Amino acid sequence: MNHNLPITIPHPPTILAIETSCDETAVAIIAGEDKLLAGEVASQIALHQPYGGVVPEVASRNHLTQLKPLIDRALNTSGISIEEIDAFAATTGPGLATSLMLGASAAKGLSIGLQKPWLAINHLEGHLLSPFFGNENGVEPCVALVVSGGHTLLVVIEEVGSYRVIGQTRDDAAGEAFDKVGKLLRLPYPAGPRIDRLAREGDRTRFNFPRSMLHSGDFHFSFSGLKTAVRTMLPKFDDDSLPDVCASFQEAVVDVLVQKTIAAAKAEHRRLIAVSGGVSCNSRLRERFRQACDENGIRLLLAAPELCTDNAAMIAHVAARRFVRGQFSPLETDIDPNLRLV
Ligand code: KG4
Ligand code: ZN
Repeated sequence: MNHNLPITIPHPPTILAIETSCDETAVAIIAGEDKLLAGEVASQIALHQPYGGVVPEVASRNHLTQLKPLIDRALNTSGISIEEIDAFAATTGPGLATSLMLGASAAKGLSIGLQKPWLAINHLEGHLLSPFFGNENGVEPCVALVVSGGHTLLVVIEEVGSYRVIGQTRDDAAGEAFDKVGKLLRLPYPAGPRIDRLAREGDRTRFNFPRSMLHSGDFHFSFSGLKTAVRTMLPKFDDDSLPDVCASFQEAVVDVLVQKTIAAAKAEHRRLIAVSGGVSCNSRLRERFRQACDENGIRLLLAAPELCTDNAAMIAHVAARRFVRGQFSPLETDIDPNLRLV
């Protein structure tokens, strides 16, 4: 709690949130917990594509030039003046240090200048709670899967702020596996969406790739063996087999993610599964989760497609839930590139 600021708690609060943890510059303005007034995302994908991945120096330079115009645009879109904002929030980790610093410094500067509270938000919590954006029951107890470029986490959610991580990846994250396999197949970065599209034309039974740790008896994951299997089989692929390789690889990832999440929900006696993160855009993953949840009588909340990949709306959403609980951050709260969910 920041005791230096004169805090009166308006209801519902209007919050401006900034997300700059990796290669997307994003600004959102939210009223209350679920009313998105503006959600701006400036993607840097084209800038990083020639390097086959995100270059931290290029990312931070770009956040620097994009941030101010993006804040102006969000204010314009929402029709709100900066003085009407009740609090400023930013992602403080995990992510690239030089990228996080820009968003956090901007939000802190605004909160000091305008004498408003500041909220430091965990990027992973942003993803984790994104399926509950607009949910009429708010955040409900469930088993949640977060699958992004940097993380693969299975989490038991009790309520906002009460989380238990029951599984994570031992090596590559699910999105990382998509991107690395895409690189092997000479697809442009980030390869996830490309593999998803190509897989729709492919035969997912043609190549039998490994389902690592499917029967490990715990809720952890491993995707590096799958990547190696694709690399080993590269000489056998010709141009015509690309859709089949994509479909078979994707099916292996999806099989493990869906089966382990369902098993976790059963083990934890949860009747609700929430799925989020960049990989949760994947059309086959969404389809398989719908089928599996249907068959097992489990309710499913999938993050809306526009909330799957990095965005500031999910950060604003968590910030709003913190704000109504009076959980503001001290101004000393700094970025932490290695921040964990719990
Ligand atoms: O959540 P996100 O935007 O960033 C991180 O926090 O990491 O996730 C980005 C990841 C990338 O690895 C990208 O390839 C993957 O999400 N991704 C997908 C799809 N769309 C994005 N993976 C599979 N299928 C997709 N449709
Ligand atoms: Zn993310």
